[in-house]
Amino acid sequence: MENEAKKVMLSGIQPSGDLHLGNYLGAIKNWSVRADQFDCYYFMADMHTITVRQNPADLRRRTLEQLAQYIACGLDPEKNTLFVQSHVHQHAELGWVLQCYTMFGELSRMTQFKDKSKKNADNINGGLFAYPSLMAADILLYQPDLVPVGEDQKQHVELCRNVVQRFNGIYGDVFKMPEFYSTKAGARIMCLTQPESKMSKSMPEGCVFLMENPDDIMRKFKRAVTDSDTERCVRYAPDEKPGVSNLMSIYSAVTGKSYDEIEAEFEGKGYGAFKPAVGEAVVELLRPIREESQRLIKDKAYLESVYRAGAEKAGYVAEKTLRKVYKKIGFLQR
Ligand code: TRP
Repeated sequence: MENEAKKVMLSGIQPSGDLHLGNYLGAIKNWSVRADQFDCYYFMADMHTITVRQNPADLRRRTLEQLAQYIACGLDPEKNTLFVQSHVHQHAELGWVLQCYTMFGELSRMTQFKDKSKKNADNINGGLFAYPSLMAADILLYQPDLVPVGEDQKQHVELCRNVVQRFNGIYGDVFKMPEFYSTKAGARIMCLTQPESKMSKSMPEGCVFLMENPDDIMRKFKRAVTDSDTERCVRYAPDEKPGVSNLMSIYSAVTGKSYDEIEAEFEGKGYGAFKPAVGEAVVELLRPIREESQRLIKDKAYLESVYRAGAEKAGYVAEKTLRKVYKKIGFLQR
């Protein structure tokens, strides 16, 4: 009964790289607190990763590691449905159907497609182009109210909403209209070496990975770029002082201190004291997460039980939606 009243939330992360501080502070950290209010589904979007060529062994390893890391970050598998996309075959099936309700023109306008085609000019495959239709299927199978994703995914959620309108316009109320839910509420963490760009695995020196050891984390923070202004004081001013302001965002997200409190704490101390303090706060934040992930990754039987139970629960819900869709569009029932 209680479950029926809860709103449904769904999101996915591609296991295409190791999780980092930006993923944690910007997204995952907020996920764990939602479990009591929402019925939450989180999945490893492995089917999306193959739109770009992957090394099979790495993909397999990262998918399992990511599950371990989600759990270590506080996502309780008893309270959230955690699963691997490819384990729930309904994603591929509804993905195909929805491709037939997504327009070539719509897909051509997607910024992510344009960006990724530039970066992978030798592999502009059909999957890369049709990716948003699969993402719409990921979403719509679970009839969620909210889809919490980064701003870069907003366009894909908008496309999904267009597909709902088109589909429901023909067949009646089959899909619930999902809402984009910005994860901006979390901190937007920038690269430590180029604070104009988002923290990303593609710039490893400016990126702190969840599994990184404390020495490396400290080194990265000590080398973080600060700003070449003359005042050399810790003050929050993202436009003038992007480097220092980013470190302040990190410190604030980790310690819960406000910018005013941080400015007061480091008044007269300069950057030399500030940078290692941020590093130490991050080391202590990540220590239990790293240790718990390492413990979980060795417990393969447990991880298997989590993703099997997740796939079973997700599959049950997904199948209900898929049956309805097949019936509406006129597929003969088996
Ligand atoms: N496209 C998302 C990303 O690259 C991942 C994703 C796939 C997703 N399917 C989804 C996110 C469905 C939310 C809902 O980050």
